[in-house]
Amino acid sequence: MKTKNVILFASGSGSNAENIVKFMRKNKIPVIFPIIITNKEKAYIHTRAEKLEIPTKTINRADLSDGKFLLKTLKEYKADYIVLAGYLLKIPTEIVEAYPDKIINIHPALLPKYGGKGMYGDNVHKAVKEANEKETGITIHYVNENYDEGNIIFQAKCEVLPTDTFEDIAQKVHQLEYEYFPKIILKTWF
Ligand code: GRF
Repeated sequence: MKTKNVILFASGSGSNAENIVKFMRKNKIPVIFPIIITNKEKAYIHTRAEKLEIPTKTINRADLSDGKFLLKTLKEYKADYIVLAGYLLKIPTEIVEAYPDKIINIHPALLPKYGGKGMYGDNVHKAVKEANEKETGITIHYVNENYDEGNIIFQAKCEVLPTDTFEDIAQKVHQLEYEYFPKIILKTWF
């Protein structure tokens, strides 16, 4: 089986990116991660990537929204698949068209609820708490040109207790992310 090149995009802490890399390596999946692309120079993902011995590339917002530039970069790294792991910017249309069903994102709620612009990170968990939801979860989906609207591949749920703080909710959701995200992306690759 030919080794596939997977490009990870992350904007923040990068715990999902790290978890994905570790899972693939542990299970000897024939994929390599030639680069992790980020838009934040100071994000913790750089530290994690260094430990994983994967280089990072910080690209500014303007270049990341320039489809031609980004496509050229992805081609340089011979990207077969793209995984957005806590990446907060929009993926340009050119990229969506060049990689149909090859770009996967994880959203920390049960889409179509709590998706769209501004719905990221703790904003999502605070909104879930505010609405007194009884459950929340994760959505793993393909990426199209609109935020959080691509076809859903998988969802998993967890309970929200009235006593849960938004931090508690975030923690439960993270557990689901760590458990399912690597397994589900793997299923879409081979
Ligand atoms: C995750 O909750 C993910 O669902 C969301 O952003 C968060 C990223 O966390 N898109 P981390 O950077 O992987 O730790």
